[in-house]
Amino acid sequence: MKILVTGGAGFIGSNFIHYWVKSHPEDQIVNLDVLTYAGHLESLKDLEGNPNYTFIKGDITDENTVKSAMSGVEIVVHFAAESHVDRSIVNPLQFVKTNVLGTAILLNAALDAKVKRFHHVSTDEVYGQLDSNDPPFTENSPYNPRAPYSASKAGSDHMVRAYFETYGLPITITNCANNYGSYHDPEKLIPRFITNLLEGKKVPLMGRGENIREWLHVEDHAEAIDFVLQKGKVGETYLIQGEEKTNMEITKMILNALGMDESMIEYVEHRLGHDFRYAINGEKLQSLGWERKHNVGEDLPKVAEWYKANQWWWKPFKEGRPIVDRSAQKSYGP
Ligand SMILES: NC(=O)c1ccc[n+]([C@@H]2O[C@H](COP(=O)([O-])OP(=O)(O)OC[C@H]3O[C@@H](n4cnc5c(N)ncnc54)[C@H](O)[C@@H]3O)[C@@H](O)[C@H]2O)c1
Repeated sequence: MKILVTGGAGFIGSNFIHYWVKSHPEDQIVNLDVLTYAGHLESLKDLEGNPNYTFIKGDITDENTVKSAMSGVEIVVHFAAESHVDRSIVNPLQFVKTNVLGTAILLNAALDAKVKRFHHVSTDEVYGQLDSNDPPFTENSPYNPRAPYSASKAGSDHMVRAYFETYGLPITITNCANNYGSYHDPEKLIPRFITNLLEGKKVPLMGRGENIREWLHVEDHAEAIDFVLQKGKVGETYLIQGEEKTNMEITKMILNALGMDESMIEYVEHRLGHDFRYAINGEKLQSLGWERKHNVGEDLPKVAEWYKANQWWWKPFKEGRPIVDRSAQKSYGP
């Protein structure tokens, strides 16, 4: 079988490809990725020369590229996106282009190619934010995105469902929490904190670290997508549940893993419109038999070890890269 993975040079896409090569070694994998700042072919170095793996450098917003990448494909797993909330605040239009238009172009080509399944990877952020006592999101929660990133992902989810309802394209969607694991770009919280500490720098924690996120190991995410491809019902959405932790709890776990203390925390301002809490009720997927295997408390020290041992991977692109300038964020006010 031939599977097209979009955004396979990114964090989750590269981990998904590693997972797929191991669990479905007979399949042909095509990785379509334009290699933005977040795409790292080094994450897939071990696959160079593998006859079942092909890389196409191309943009999902380019119709001709997408059409030719789709040739002979049976399953599409769509990860390609602009994914960093801070960047979306600085440059929202790029997010609309890649996440909404790019998804629509892929859907159109998938329909023409009569693929057997188009699986769309999305985020719990489309449902907005929760207060401390609110029940977690379910598949029936209303969409209420609050940042350009989550709004563009919401737009992509709607397009995917529209292609199912209007044209009968066999789709499934998963929305999940923040992922953690190896090959994660150091602009995101966990790898940024670990790599900063390895470089002897402090970690920038927004507010007092009171915001709550759910965390899902990237390998659990890859398995859950495979599970949905096999057991999920066409046209359905499944939420993948992780573990709820405050950002302060995650920060302390990282500090402990590296033998450091809270003096390494630098408290910084919240981002504009910073969502307070995300949480997921994953019963729909669990009722089909899917279970999370990883545990963030046990796994964060292993993730920290990975960054320590694999500085060749992250140092070259962390060095010299400006951190997104949050002072340049647009805001309506003085
Ligand atoms: N990281 C998370 O915690 C998380 C959680 C839930 C959902 N998601 C979703 O999972 C998907 C993957 O997230 P990630 O963290 O791996 O992102 P990432 O930013 O690490 O990787 C995105 C990849 O997409 C590629 N890409 C971007 N624009 C492209 C374009 N126009 N054409 C082709 N390729 C393009 C980039 O080069 C990169 O390799 C995204 O759709 C994201 O919304 C991520």
